[in-house]
Amino acid sequence: MPLISLSPLPYEKTALNGFLSEQTLTFHHDKHLATYVETTNKLRVGTAFEHESIYNIIVNAREGALYNNAAQVFNHEFYFNCLSATTQEIPEELSECLKTNFGTVEVFLEKFVASAVGNFGSGWTWLVKNGDGLEIVNTQNAGNPLLYGKIPLLTVDVWEHAYYLDYQNRRADYVKAFCNHVNWAHVLACLHEAK
Ligand SMILES: [Fe+2]
Repeated sequence: MPLISLSPLPYEKTALNGFLSEQTLTFHHDKHLATYVETTNKLRVGTAFEHESIYNIIVNAREGALYNNAAQVFNHEFYFNCLSATTQEIPEELSECLKTNFGTVEVFLEKFVASAVGNFGSGWTWLVKNGDGLEIVNTQNAGNPLLYGKIPLLTVDVWEHAYYLDYQNRRADYVKAFCNHVNWAHVLACLHEAK
């Protein structure tokens, strides 16, 4: 398998201005994610995972430095794909699904924000498909729901590097703004893929 490459952002670095600055996206994508890609390529040389995909490294390595870096590649690419440069309405099919699982869309969003704000330290807050249902789960550091058989549909990065330049210690403001910039079409596509 060729080297794992750094996927470009699916929008311009200025596209999320007002939510995330060009400076944040530049550091986050060009420095943080690029380093995870580079380290994954370095660490897998000479291991059983040298020719494996990121997905296979995650579900089979499950821990350690190679896992951490590979999972951070997956998590960041997923996160960047969860964001939209334009405000999107939640598609009817997805909002019905959220209502079935959480009561109302508003309740889902409140729970998602509360979970992300309460996610202690560095980590990720996810909407996942678990069996027939949807759940909100927190993972720490480079944690990934795939380890527990849960399929990621949406994630917010709550490592401080994701928001500190724009929001400093105000994680709640960052997560609430995140909810207004979700690529809901991507979330629905992930739900379809998970079926
Ligand atoms: Fe990050």
